[in-house]
Amino acid sequence: MNTSTPTLYQRLGGREGITRITRELVKNHLANPLVKARYETSKNLEQVERRVVEFFCAGSGGPETYSGKDMLATHRGMNISEQEFIAVLDDAMAALETCQVEAPTRNEVLGILWSLKPEVVRV
Ligand code: HEM
Repeated sequence: MNTSTPTLYQRLGGREGITRITRELVKNHLANPLVKARYETSKNLEQVERRVVEFFCAGSGGPETYSGKDMLATHRGMNISEQEFIAVLDDAMAALETCQVEAPTRNEVLGILWSLKPEVVRV
């Protein structure tokens, strides 16, 4: 094993980098006509943002613990469409680019997000 290969968490800039990326992500969502209403009506967007940071930290190999609900429980009953799902992925990819995350790492994140589709879309 090549122990010098950085983990996904490290390549995203650790907790600090992931916090910046998530801030950009939420900014993009609030400017995206396809999904903005979903987030504008959230009762506690700051808490959602904190949980999203935890989720990405824990899911990319960081030491943080995710304290939110699982993806199915979070999105159940929202009737999220494929179009909204792609819009959220587009926003995520744009946030990674803004934060200068390199293409191979962006693609890795895209694959992980895509794999969560059955727990998010029309559940
Ligand atoms: C793979 C894609 C996605 C991931 C990884 C994801 C992840 C998350 C996480 C971690 C939370 C916080 C849960 C909590 O506070 O317990 C959350 C909340 C939320 N998600 Fe997603 N999400 C995804 C896709 C979507 C899509 C496509 C939509 C619809 C446009 C959406 C709408 C929301 C909303 C509105 C909330 C906030 C609910 C509230 O106010 O409590 N998500 N999501």
